[in-house]
Amino acid sequence: MAKGDTYPAEAEVYRSDRLTIRPLTAADAQAYVEHTHANKQDLDAVDIYVPTDLNDVLTKIKYASPEGGEDYGIWEGEQLVGGIDLFSEVNRDPQEPKIAWIAYWIDKAHRGKGIAKEVVRGVVDHAFGPLGFATIKAGVKSHNVASQKTLEAIGFIHTNTHPKTGSFTYTLEKPETPAV
Ligand SMILES: CC(C)(COP(=O)(O)OP(=O)(O)OC[C@H]1O[C@@H](n2cnc3c(N)ncnc32)[C@H](O)[C@@H]1OP(=O)(O)O)[C@@H](O)C(=O)NCCC(=O)NCCS
Repeated sequence: MAKGDTYPAEAEVYRSDRLTIRPLTAADAQAYVEHTHANKQDLDAVDIYVPTDLNDVLTKIKYASPEGGEDYGIWEGEQLVGGIDLFSEVNRDPQEPKIAWIAYWIDKAHRGKGIAKEVVRGVVDHAFGPLGFATIKAGVKSHNVASQKTLEAIGFIHTNTHPKTGSFTYTLEKPETPAV
């Protein structure tokens, strides 16, 4: 399937009665630009990258891969309501367990409804399952209580505070598979 085609249902990362998560396609790029720009102030405040224009999004989509990193859109019905990105930590020994970093945003009109908790859990399951990551990390500003609560609700633990910026690192390890 060429990048930019509409993704088939099996490419979905997560689906529930209200929400769907799947990789962004070229057909989503315009909506993605509009929504990130509408939330730019909040995204800038937490260092989430806001694409400059349509071509910028199309480039992101072109170079995305499940192994390296992927930008997912979050849909409530037909409406784009946020984004969630998963990036593999680079320059690691391929023999070592894989580490991913996660970042996410919810459109301001759709916050406070449990969407972040639901979608972060959905992408975490996908990362530990089909993508084979062993550890997931998130960088969070010390003032970002909503994001800290989101991560804590899923089981992430505050593992580090950056000595210069004061930002927090949250970490979640893949649960052990119970012995049969
Ligand atoms: C952080 C963010 C993703 C939360 O999205 P959301 O869908 O509103 O979150 P949820 O409704 O799932 O709530 C998650 C938790 O945060 C709490 N919360 C939500 N908004 C809050 C706020 N403004 N202040 C304090 N706590 C808040 C909820 O009560 C819930 O905690 P609980 O389980 O202990 O009750 C959203 O505020 C956002 O997009 N912010 C801008 C971008 C950003 O900060 N991204 C994260 C970067 S690390």
